[in-house]
Amino acid sequence: MHIRSYRSGDLPALYDICLRTGDSGEDATGQFADPKLIGEIFAAPYAAHDPGLISVATDDDGVAGYVIGCLDTLAFEDWCEREWWPPLRKRYPEPADDDTSRDARMIRMIHAPVPTHPRPYLEVPATHPSHLHIDLLPRAQGHGVGRRLIERLLDQLTALGSPGVHLGVSARNHRAIGFYERLGFTRLVEPPTDRPPAGYTLGM
Ligand code: ACO
Repeated sequence: MHIRSYRSGDLPALYDICLRTGDSGEDATGQFADPKLIGEIFAAPYAAHDPGLISVATDDDGVAGYVIGCLDTLAFEDWCEREWWPPLRKRYPEPADDDTSRDARMIRMIHAPVPTHPRPYLEVPATHPSHLHIDLLPRAQGHGVGRRLIERLLDQLTALGSPGVHLGVSARNHRAIGFYERLGFTRLVEPPTDRPPAGYTLGM
């Protein structure tokens, strides 16, 4: 696998990989009526906002994975509110209350975005202002590519002066949790004890 900086022509691959890893790391193809929806939230805005913090892993078959970084999470959320969400809110009207489809759940996130740092834990972006996403297709997994991509991003964020990075990971994604712990990420927020956690906020 070759690792290089993102180019605008990689955008369709970002949407595709986001979908194909969109079920807690497993393939979510077929779970969405609109296959671009998940990428509209978790991949494409980053490519529009700060493409310099995206790296991709490629092989002879094309782009097989990416890491996406965001230097300043709160500034990014403000930018999304101004620039990214308004046209999407027009394109995807709010679903009916009884619509439990995955599309409807994603569209609700367009209308009421879920921050990467669980509110009211605003100390997370205070101490770890950057955040990241990483997704590799199965053919790229398990060969050290994830580590290389994360280390490349951490070097970039450090050079830009970031004191810390956080991420949100589904509690069902045991593989990714093990990966992040192996790389040295730790839990920044203890999840509530009165119900099973939906996910964890990790950081470094
Ligand atoms: N438990 C313990 N250690 C692990 C685990 C695990 N489950 N997975 C990997 N490791 C270790 C490896 O042994 C390796 O150790 P070493 O470098 O010290 O020898 C190290 O972690 C790095 O492993 P890589 O081979 O680089 O991991 P990989 O390339 O498979 O990337 C990733 C991991 C990103 C989770 C990848 O499997 C993937 O993309 N999965 C599907 C999508 C996904 O789940 N993305 C995360 C969503 S959460 C978010 O983006 C914020």
